[in-house]
Amino acid sequence: MAARMINLMLTSCTSEELGASVVNAHDAEELHAGLLAPEACISPKFLYDALGSKLFEAICELPEYYPTRTEAAIFERHGAEIARVAGTGTTLLDLGAGNCAKAASLFPLLQPSQYVAIDISSEFVHEALARLRQRFPKVEMEALGMDFSNRFELPELVRAERRLFFYPGSSLGNFTPEDAQAFLARLRAQCGPDGGILIGIDLAKDKATLDAAYDDALGVTAAFNLNILRHVNGLVDADFDIRQWKHHGFYNAARGRIEMHLEARSAQQVRWRGGDRRFEAGDCIHTENSYKYQQADAIKLLERSGFEATRVWTDPQRWFAVIHAQAIAP
Ligand code: AVJ
Repeated sequence: MAARMINLMLTSCTSEELGASVVNAHDAEELHAGLLAPEACISPKFLYDALGSKLFEAICELPEYYPTRTEAAIFERHGAEIARVAGTGTTLLDLGAGNCAKAASLFPLLQPSQYVAIDISSEFVHEALARLRQRFPKVEMEALGMDFSNRFELPELVRAERRLFFYPGSSLGNFTPEDAQAFLARLRAQCGPDGGILIGIDLAKDKATLDAAYDDALGVTAAFNLNILRHVNGLVDADFDIRQWKHHGFYNAARGRIEMHLEARSAQQVRWRGGDRRFEAGDCIHTENSYKYQQADAIKLLERSGFEATRVWTDPQRWFAVIHAQAIAP
């Protein structure tokens, strides 16, 4: 009887209200496989629980983390033209919307007919959208808490007309170039003939600038990286001792990507639901790649995925590019 009561209570509350982490079978299996892989890894999507999303917001304020600021300056300077090229009255699908601030700043110019904020951090994006509704009561908007990095389906409430995928911040960099192409092709397939994409791409640059951006003086990026262990502890009942791990974030120039790793400070046994592993001191868990592109390669990648670049906007240093591309007939 008591168990039934608790069950009833559980089904009437969201997991967020209970402050618990929920994990679906696919994510649990993915975590398990990654932790047991010869080179242990945890997908960067697990960086974004509610606290991780807040830490990422803090990263965006750091002097060393240039992408957010540089991209914002591009939108600031070229917003009117971007809106002319991308068009007003679109169905604006914000992928990884987070706090929705970037899209919201473009509302006056883009004037979407529907705004759909999609983020894996469900609670975070729903709260952000609730606040946005107060500011723009006339814009039709929806929040969707879902993982769009794999195959995903959009619910019917998302309008089919003139879809514009908004994928700023260079999040595409988390995919390998091959996976990025597959991902973009999936977006192309959800576009219809009149759709397009407005995407932010971080461009390759000197190693010192990149190293500093992913290993900042305050240690916010370190906290962001380490928080993945706290999140995993909640998701699969793991017993990672966060103090026994150390953040690394650096540019691997040969591979054209930032890598984030967590290094064991001491030998230790880690247990989680369904598995365990011994880590020696110095062993690493790979938590993120962030590929940096040459502008021409980013355009080629879009073209191989069924898009045609219509315009590119960059900053004076050419550190970051905002690209608008149109779906081309298959
Ligand atoms: C959200 C994937 C664009 O790669 O720059 C920031 C995540 N990782 N600092 C990036 C991140 C470490 C960020 N993206």
